[in-house]
Amino acid sequence: MALPLLAACQRGAVPMATTAPLTEARTAEIAPPTFSPRVQQLLAQMTLEEKIGQMTQLNISAINHTGTNGDVSLDSAKAAGLVRDFHIGSFINGEAVPAVQWLRYSAALQRIALRESRLHIPMIYGIDHMHGASYVGGTAIFPHNINLGASFNPALARQAARATILESADLGHHWVFAPVLDLGLNTYWPRFYETFGEDPLVAATLGTAFTVELQTNTEISPYKVAACGKHFLGYSDPRNGWDRTNALIPDQRLQEFFRPSFQSAIDSGLKSIMINSGEINGEPVHASKAILTDLLRRQMGFKGVAVTDWEDINRLVRVQKVAPNEKEATWMAIDAGVDMAMTPYTTSFCRIVKELVQEGRLTQARIDLSAGRILQMKDEIGLFENPMPRADRLSRIGDPALRAQAVAAARESMVLLKNERNALPLAPARVKRLLVVGPSADSRANLCGGWTLAWQGRPEDAYPKDVPTLLEALRREYPQAKIEMLPYRDATGKMLLPSISAAAKQADAVVLALGERPYTEGLGNTSDLTLPVDQQQLAQAAQASGKPTVLIVIGGRPNIIRSVAEGSSAIIWAGLPGYGGATALAEIISGKTNPSGKLPFTYPQFAGHITNYHHDNNENSLDLSDFGAGYESPGAKYKSSMLTEFGEGLSYTTYAYSGLALSDSVLTGPAAKLRATVRVANTGSRAGQEAVLWFLTDEIGRIARPVRMLKHFEKQAFAAGQSQQLTFDIDPLHDLSYPDGQGRPQLETGWYTLRVGSQMARFRYVALPVASATPAAGKATGAVRPASDQSRTVTAAASH
Ligand code: BGC
Repeated sequence: MALPLLAACQRGAVPMATTAPLTEARTAEIAPPTFSPRVQQLLAQMTLEEKIGQMTQLNISAINHTGTNGDVSLDSAKAAGLVRDFHIGSFINGEAVPAVQWLRYSAALQRIALRESRLHIPMIYGIDHMHGASYVGGTAIFPHNINLGASFNPALARQAARATILESADLGHHWVFAPVLDLGLNTYWPRFYETFGEDPLVAATLGTAFTVELQTNTEISPYKVAACGKHFLGYSDPRNGWDRTNALIPDQRLQEFFRPSFQSAIDSGLKSIMINSGEINGEPVHASKAILTDLLRRQMGFKGVAVTDWEDINRLVRVQKVAPNEKEATWMAIDAGVDMAMTPYTTSFCRIVKELVQEGRLTQARIDLSAGRILQMKDEIGLFENPMPRADRLSRIGDPALRAQAVAAARESMVLLKNERNALPLAPARVKRLLVVGPSADSRANLCGGWTLAWQGRPEDAYPKDVPTLLEALRREYPQAKIEMLPYRDATGKMLLPSISAAAKQADAVVLALGERPYTEGLGNTSDLTLPVDQQQLAQAAQASGKPTVLIVIGGRPNIIRSVAEGSSAIIWAGLPGYGGATALAEIISGKTNPSGKLPFTYPQFAGHITNYHHDNNENSLDLSDFGAGYESPGAKYKSSMLTEFGEGLSYTTYAYSGLALSDSVLTGPAAKLRATVRVANTGSRAGQEAVLWFLTDEIGRIARPVRMLKHFEKQAFAAGQSQQLTFDIDPLHDLSYPDGQGRPQLETGWYTLRVGSQMARFRYVALPVASATPAAGKATGAVRPASDQSRTVTAAASH
């Protein structure tokens, strides 16, 4: 029976919830490894040194001619020496060079590995293809993950993964260091853009879609590729916002927010994880047995390879100072659960691990475990059968169809934050003259950010000329109009604001392409998110003309734009949309593309106050009446620190949500199911796509619960006037529970609020009395004592 909407929940009008804590976590002893016969045979024949060599990963600079990272040339003598003397089993990295150069390099390196290794074990090559095959020349550069998050469309994450391997697997790139499964919670963090945003479900859904496509695509057959989920875990919320610094994360929060994206990918077969270079609660993750063994292996059931991040064993000594020397650090890391060390410059790891075994501090069995996991990964991706790259499918690289997909992904990844009096679209028929200004107006690098062609991006002239800049894309989009770009500084750096104001007065509208230059990791650390002063002045000069201004925020994290937001007619958050970014932006400005992105994070309004949409009840409101009589001041009651909320985004059409109905008003026991349906209609005059986001609130929790959490989403295309009924099947254990610090699901008796679009409904969850408790198939087993008994417990063998 469908129930009508229930009244809005008023403070104080909510029935008290009672908590039924679940008592068993999903913990198990680590299952003994099930290595393939090949791996078992190899382990039986290998020397200790050979096994340690498998656990060692060196950077390209150790085997190329110049000793620098970007040089994809092979010094055969160096490579042969390292494989012969140290049995090195893995190499990494490089930068974008033409496919044929990669092919030559990989083939020669693999030949050396097979020849010099006594048991002919192939090396595995790891590479940072982060948004497309970004370290191969001429490939499709997709939007970064933060943009894919804005699309709320897992199909785009799959396409990005597919393009990545179609354009690199044949070149001997066996191990892709993606996806980033961290949560974009702290907007200062210089790797914010590498995440799918702040929501665990979005990160889990898109990250898993990426992982599955990368690891199971058969078009690259006979090859297979291993994904690497990174950076396990809690890397993305450093207290001071800087890269690789301490995060303070309570266990409960670690379980509820940071675990799900990794858990989902692991449950779908993720073959490797890379470890967080920072610290959690003061403990470096590389030295944390609690995280790398108890959580990752015991609770989460991960069976694959755990690789360190860059030089991180060494950093335990040099930077984090938790070990007096490299030997202690190496012991700590391996004891904690590291399988492979990205050393990445030295072989001292090989010597030290051998000494630790000889001294009895590490057992042979421990070494076998890690070497076995690495060999198993090599075996599972077919490296023993197909170790060599191939040259007969190079025409796949640079395929225009993949570029077209990158453009399509960029179209869905932009978010229209403001559109005052329908300033956009600027229909070509109405535009005679457009002024385009700002640091990103004629830039390809700024649209792509870090990890494009090279670690920190490359100088502007290194990007392909057939990738349009915004200026070029606008000229294409408005062939009849004069599209003018003016510099806003002269050669001495002096601002040219009067000429900008004057030109703005002559134009029909001004496009302000603002934002950031490429960066990643520590080189992107910032102490102020505020839009740089010169860009604020530029925007204000344009706005002073009185002409419509379209402000476009380009960059890896949201600049604080409060001072120029008010005066802007329209604002588009463009993030880092990649090679298709300019085309997508020009089409959105002209109206050819109807924007459909929604923010995958909370856009902060103030540099000094960052919050996330799933904050606790007391975190983002200022109710002055709490201070007593005389302090109430109507306007200040709710002072939001958000410029725009998670999940918001405008369109050129309008959607109406109606008729939210629930199949029942009460869910009894963890096996019960509830179906929610809602009608969504495109009430405007043009087609569009709408991401439908379903949020749940646990109204009263035993611990402070988020004001709402996204529990389900889907994106649908709507023709003008079309309406569709959409469904969300609510499963109590999955959707209503939250984990405690040990990962045990807590399912609370009480009221829940469901929200979708403008609609809201409430329902109750009631635990089963002891006598009638029935186990949910494969999910929960448990019993609950009668409702009057406050010590009620449910035993759950469930996964969270
Ligand atoms: C980054 C990783 C990357 C690795 C290899 C590290 O500095 O944190 O994300 O995969 O380098 O380049």
